[in-house]
Amino acid sequence: MTKAKILGICGSHRKGGATEYCVKEALKSSESVPGVETEFVSLQGKKIMHCIHCNKCIKDGTLCVIKDDFQEIQEKFLEADGYILGSPVYQMNSTPLIQDFCSRLRPTYLVYPGHFANRVGGAIATGGTRHGGQEMTLLTLRNVFLTYEILTTGGPGGNYCGAAVWSQDKKELGAKEDLVGMQKVTGLGRRVAEAALILKAGKQALKDEGVELKKEDLWFKDHYKDIE
Ligand SMILES: Cc1cc2nc3c(=O)[nH]c(=O)nc-3n(C[C@H](O)[C@H](O)[C@H](O)COP(=O)(O)O)c2cc1C
Repeated sequence: MTKAKILGICGSHRKGGATEYCVKEALKSSESVPGVETEFVSLQGKKIMHCIHCNKCIKDGTLCVIKDDFQEIQEKFLEADGYILGSPVYQMNSTPLIQDFCSRLRPTYLVYPGHFANRVGGAIATGGTRHGGQEMTLLTLRNVFLTYEILTTGGPGGNYCGAAVWSQDKKELGAKEDLVGMQKVTGLGRRVAEAALILKAGKQALKDEGVELKKEDLWFKDHYKDIE
């Protein structure tokens, strides 16, 4: 039986907040899909530096050389089949915490081109105001998926770019009260899990038929050949 793993990452600076609740609810919904298991990771309290564009990854063909709490999560990220990224809305966009984390993923797709190509991700944004920038935040998180060649879904009909939740600045309680938002969250969790499972089964089926998919080239070698 095909198995797939969905990794949920919460980019809130607070424990027990609206975003943590939503990411966990999405993962619960992912688990309703047969063969799917999940893992939740909170970035809260983690020491994760942002990318400083030292380009050591490109020059030396290595993963990120900055050593902090990032490595432990990177390992999970490299292994997962699907992703749910959740962020509170800060200044109508995602939190610096989740942006710092995502910027450090840069070497993963440079050193392992195509590694994430047939995986899938979805996004959740919780804002204190009903229309406080959730869509902008969702698009920012989806741009992370696009950058790393991860396929992306917003969830079932009406979700558009992902799950937008109005927390009323009341942490978990506020999110729970947003019934429409929570419906989007569970829909997203299920759809990401289904897509991850289908992609994984499809890859295996092709392999069993002897179909070899093209391995991506190290495209950045020429692109960055004169960099300092
Ligand atoms: C620095 C800061 C900026 C914020 N900016 C916005 C904003 O632009 N729009 C909005 O709707 N809510 C904004 N909020 C409220 C949070 O997005 C909201 O309370 C969110 O649900 C918090 O998630 P959490 O409970 O997981 O921490 C902001 C909160 C903080 C601390």
